[in-house]
Amino acid sequence: MLLEGKIAVITGAGRGLGKAMARIFAREGAQVLAVDISGEEKAVAAGIGSSVVPYHADVAREDEIEAMFAFALSRFGKVDALVNNAATLMALREELTAGEYEEGTAVNLRGLMFCCKHAIRAMAKGGGGSIVNITSAGVLGVEDRASIVYSAAKTAVHSLTQSLAFHHGRQGIRVNAVAPGLCKTENWDRYPEDFKEQIYGKPVLGRPGEAEEPGEVAAFLASDRASYVTGAIIPVDGGWSIRLV
Ligand SMILES: NC(=O)c1ccc[n+]([C@@H]2O[C@H](COP(=O)([O-])OP(=O)(O)OC[C@H]3O[C@@H](n4cnc5c(N)ncnc54)[C@H](O)[C@@H]3O)[C@@H](O)[C@H]2O)c1
Repeated sequence: MLLEGKIAVITGAGRGLGKAMARIFAREGAQVLAVDISGEEKAVAAGIGSSVVPYHADVAREDEIEAMFAFALSRFGKVDALVNNAATLMALREELTAGEYEEGTAVNLRGLMFCCKHAIRAMAKGGGGSIVNITSAGVLGVEDRASIVYSAAKTAVHSLTQSLAFHHGRQGIRVNAVAPGLCKTENWDRYPEDFKEQIYGKPVLGRPGEAEEPGEVAAFLASDRASYVTGAIIPVDGGWSIRLV
């Protein structure tokens, strides 16, 4: 198993890609702290088994993030991996506002940055670790339908990923990003049929992603098999981002 003996913190694990990640990490032998603000983390953990521990936190708040890592250290004794998956998803809006800026950066950039900060503190004590930031293929030069602030935050996370990889490599801490294309999570059913049809035409593989596909790559990056991979931004988008649209 890829993650035997590893301790992983996964944010936004209450649904969507994060819920699939909790399943995959547990399948690969990790013990998982499944973090969410929704309360759904309890059902996710109960559905997977005792290797997944639910944890309720708002990852927009540094005090809650600090408490989350303190809990992880007291419960498991170490933190080997962090997947920064939680996000506030936002569609394109008509006009840019200060409210949109706050909403689009609180979790997607500021919260993610503080999760990295406290994970690095915990990992440095244990001699290293792996951080996987979940961004979006929508900011890799493909047509981007999301809010401008959401996209700016995701792009900033690519920069943050490489800066942290640069600064913490000597501590044995690897930092990478996974940039998913559109995947079939719970949100998929809400999209209009004509939109879904368009999505089938975008990736070169001719289909949207399955909810598990970004998590399989995140699990590899979290594992020792990816021991020489850091600072990488890996699209998991069926080849959507190699098309210039
Ligand atoms: N699903 C896709 O097709 C897709 C495509 C590109 C990128 N992404 C990225 O993948 C990640 C997961 O996307 P998803 O579609 O599964 O999203 P989702 O909205 O279905 O799930 C996000 C989870 O994060 C949690 N969350 C939100 N704010 C939080 C907070 N402040 N504290 C703790 N938890 C919080 C939510 O409660 C939810 O359970 C996100 O980073 C998203 O930007 C997803």
